[in-house]
Amino acid sequence: MTKKVLVTHRLPGERIHDLAHCSDVNVWMGPGLLPAAGLREELAGCHGLVCMLTDRIDRALIDAMPDLEFVSSMSVGVDHVDVSALTERGIPLGNTPGVLVDTTADAAFAMLLAAARRLGEADRFVRQGNWSPENAWSPDFFTGKDVTGATLGIIGLGEIGQAVARRAAGFDMRVLAWNRTPREVPGVESVSLEELLLRSDFVSIHVALTDDTHNLLDAEKIAMMKPGAVLVNTARGGIVDEAALAAALSGGHLYAAGIDVFEREPVSLDNPLLEHSSVVVAPHIGSATVLTRARMADIASENALAALKDQPMPHCVNPEVYG
Ligand code: DGY
Repeated sequence: MTKKVLVTHRLPGERIHDLAHCSDVNVWMGPGLLPAAGLREELAGCHGLVCMLTDRIDRALIDAMPDLEFVSSMSVGVDHVDVSALTERGIPLGNTPGVLVDTTADAAFAMLLAAARRLGEADRFVRQGNWSPENAWSPDFFTGKDVTGATLGIIGLGEIGQAVARRAAGFDMRVLAWNRTPREVPGVESVSLEELLLRSDFVSIHVALTDDTHNLLDAEKIAMMKPGAVLVNTARGGIVDEAALAAALSGGHLYAAGIDVFEREPVSLDNPLLEHSSVVVAPHIGSATVLTRARMADIASENALAALKDQPMPHCVNPEVYG
């Protein structure tokens, strides 16, 4: 029997063609993202699902799909999926780790530099025609915060956190890190979360969003941050209390922020972080290079291909389903 697979978006890469050769693939062609009701409709009767982080794969959806045998997400983060509900059904969930490490670390460092040196503000200033002889180079014109030689605190010392630490070494930064299970990484001082917040001029978040990390940086933790510090988040929005961060920026406790991810995406225009000119924002583009996205899509297809052959997925989030 040819198995039916729903792919919730057109994918780059090569391996998607192999998937089409060995299964009955239905690719959602848009426009835009597949809405929740559409996902439910299109997934009915399917054996496999290749989805993205914008698709909410909750228990109700999983329960409504008796034929579902595997899910492969084109993402490393799987907070959009109810992993327990899949595991209880013995359904493997694939993800795409590894290939986006450097790209995401580059993006985190870009946000850090942009926030420190006020690049968002400076870009708007020029485009809006404000650069004039009366308002031009002067000793305090667009002065920012030094990165070279500063202290960087990395929350989450997994592969991406370590890649950020390597970049920081090139800027002669002192690097502190907190990881739930402390890790020894050369050039990185392992400290408690509280010490990291107290000592760091820049804090960059690299943990996954889970029940434990939801609002990890709440008002209390943000208040612990060193006055004048910069917060960078390229991990997941729900890890930072956005209202508390906005309040810390308004009150002058923090200098700036670089935010690529929001609790709700796409972000609503009334999000208080958007009111701050010192916040550099981006629409969740940490892994967005042509090559990395093609590699992620290939891994997502490879996970699906393995499942179709009744083989373990090469990158499986819940390998316990294989017994
Ligand atoms: C992921 O894969 O989880 C990243 O957030 C994509 O950018």
